[in-house]
Amino acid sequence: MKPLSHASTQLKPSSTVAVTARAMELKRAGVDIISMSVGEPDFDTPEHIKQAARDALAQGKTKYTPSLGVPELREAIAAKFKRENQLEYAINQIQVTGGGKQALYNACFALLNQGDEVIIPAPFWVTYPEQVQMFGAIPVFVDTEATKGYQLDLAQLEAAITNKTKMIIINSPSNPSGVVYSNDTIAGIMKLAEQHDLWVMTDEMYEHITYTGALPISAGTFNPERVITINGASKAYSMTGWRIGFAAAPTHVIKAMDAIQGQTTSSANSIAQWATIAALNDTRAYIESARQAFLERRNTIVAGLNSIGCPTPTPDGAFYVLADTSRIHSDETEAAKIILEQAKVAVVPGTDFRAFGKVRLSYACSLEQINEAVRRIGALI
Ligand SMILES: Cc1ncc(COP(=O)(O)O)c(C=O)c1O
Repeated sequence: MKPLSHASTQLKPSSTVAVTARAMELKRAGVDIISMSVGEPDFDTPEHIKQAARDALAQGKTKYTPSLGVPELREAIAAKFKRENQLEYAINQIQVTGGGKQALYNACFALLNQGDEVIIPAPFWVTYPEQVQMFGAIPVFVDTEATKGYQLDLAQLEAAITNKTKMIIINSPSNPSGVVYSNDTIAGIMKLAEQHDLWVMTDEMYEHITYTGALPISAGTFNPERVITINGASKAYSMTGWRIGFAAAPTHVIKAMDAIQGQTTSSANSIAQWATIAALNDTRAYIESARQAFLERRNTIVAGLNSIGCPTPTPDGAFYVLADTSRIHSDETEAAKIILEQAKVAVVPGTDFRAFGKVRLSYACSLEQINEAVRRIGALI
């Protein structure tokens, strides 16, 4: 039989999925597993969003939509960008996608050629290098340090730029480190992008889950002509299963992304698009209550892990921590296995995030589960 494509065999399955699958296997066998591997809020989608979906169904909004997304949703997204991020986008500069992941994929497809270099600060979300490589482009990593709160060093970033660099991908607040870049860092990244004629793709999925007060500054406010802004409904409104993401970019980039989506998935799901209008227009109360819950959980998990001998910096955003598990095993994959099999807590090894010697724990679960997980890992140590 003729072989699978080269591209498909290069693709690494997500390590999060592998751990989650093993944890589910154990759960099915009756083992009491605390799952801290998944990247989704444990809250239900707010009721008014579900109601908007029921209304859309009742009104027969069950047909194909424009590939870029229904205009009413793109208007709500443009209004959100203006209200929350001080970004001015017209609705033909906005694309609605099947989750944030598809927005990132469409943008990589639209911009990357074979041999282009793409700078990705590490630790990073595992999907970035995989998507970059799908188009024959080369991920170039710039490491950041736990001791410096994973802030990006601009001199190191500049040193990584070559004449092949096409794009920098930033993700603030970050999955997995939780770092929120300072305004100066974002300004510095944009200055380098100007100097070296680079694109900046900014993944702002976790912008509402920050513990520092104001929303983080959006890179596009410095120069929207160089920026692709990625965001979506999944994390902010507890809508991971609805699969709605969106991208905003200069018109010609969105035009290319429109053609790509038009020939692949056609559009995002119609009912989910109508529900997302309700999400964008009326969720301050939900966002604030989720943020407060995550803040308490963050404080609990960071204090707990540090107290049992797993050094863990305090992140400013998202709902993950990177814990140093070298007291359990020097290799993080072994440490994650031991934590799963013996402490019965599912965590993700940092290997694929380029967070060596660390595991990622998601604290999108109850305080009781967090306390019990810390107790179990502490007992193991
Ligand atoms: C940093 C980051 N960006 C994008 C996404 C993708 O979100 P979606 O579920 O909307 O595809 C995730 C999901 O885990 C993420 O962590």
